[in-house]
Amino acid sequence: MQKILIIGSAGQIGSELVPVLREKYGDENIIAGWHNKKCDGNTLSNSIACNIDITDANALESAIKKHEINVIYHLASMLSAAAEKNPQAAYSVNMGGLFNVLEAARKNNCSVFFPSSIGAFGPSTPKDKTPQVTIQRPNTMYGITKLAGELLCDYYFQKYNVDTRGVRFPGLISYKTAPGGGTTDYAVEIFYAAAKNETYECFLKEDTTLDMMYMPDAISAMVKLMQADGSTLKNRNAYNITAMSFSPSQIFNEIKKRLPDFSITYKPDLIRQSIADSWPHSLNDENARNEWGWKPTYDLPAMVDDMIKNILSYGT
Ligand SMILES: NC(=O)c1ccc[n+]([C@@H]2O[C@H](COP(=O)([O-])OP(=O)(O)OC[C@H]3O[C@@H](n4cnc5c(N)ncnc54)[C@H](O)[C@@H]3O)[C@@H](O)[C@H]2O)c1
Repeated sequence: MQKILIIGSAGQIGSELVPVLREKYGDENIIAGWHNKKCDGNTLSNSIACNIDITDANALESAIKKHEINVIYHLASMLSAAAEKNPQAAYSVNMGGLFNVLEAARKNNCSVFFPSSIGAFGPSTPKDKTPQVTIQRPNTMYGITKLAGELLCDYYFQKYNVDTRGVRFPGLISYKTAPGGGTTDYAVEIFYAAAKNETYECFLKEDTTLDMMYMPDAISAMVKLMQADGSTLKNRNAYNITAMSFSPSQIFNEIKKRLPDFSITYKPDLIRQSIADSWPHSLNDENARNEWGWKPTYDLPAMVDDMIKNILSYGT
């Protein structure tokens, strides 16, 4: 029987992962860990919830023991733009938090899902169809903590046999919970402006192409990887996964086909534009496809159709 702790469950990913896991494994087996950000009434109600600050190793371990946890989805993090504004705090949460999770997993025999990011690459990484194994010299605090996190997860598997698994997520697009301060947040904000028929002021240049994914594919990747037969996993951690790759002008044009009055202006923000310029345009995800059957469902037009339908019916 799996008893699953989701740390960072009130965030953009966690708020959508929790209901899927509850449906799959039963409400009583899912513990939603939250911190600061209150549990959202719609997504986390009925979940068993506990307040965990990931930088507090003792509190984390007590929660794991109390709820007899054997699987951890570790989603608590400071995202790219937020981390660049406060790198010291980001180091503590992202690096210290992951270390606490891996130590608790080692002592309590838990498996761990850890999401890395396209931020783990850097300006010298090949930008198109970026390979699984390639140059990684990130120049942001977020990227540095993600790359170190990938290696730390490998280390805990090799040295302690902790069953660590993970993917490199591209920018994620969703409508249920607002994104938490990342460089690709524009690809969510743009839909809310379009639905309100407001001009959207984009914080990236119109031709800044980045790798992206719709949230249902991201959730299914996590569940599929955690269910995979461990003996088929050669990389285990930090699998490149991808679904689509586009620039602000391309997503704008796709939305405008459906909402013809929509308009956009561009006012690049110094921090987020320089982060985006250091990231790949598109990833090569053949290892994930071959090793555990990863396959996305949504391309750009299908994602735009679904986002507009849901934002218009969910309310703006
Ligand atoms: N959303 C994306 O586009 C994206 C892309 C690539 C990777 N990721 C990674 O996926 C993971 C989840 O991302 P998300 O978008 O859901 O982030 P988010 O910012 O929406 O949520 C993160 C959650 O972590 C919690 N948190 C922050 N500090 C904490 C602490 N000290 N203790 C406990 N909880 C704390 C926050 O309250 C928040 O609910 C992160 O590791 C992120 O780097 C996300």
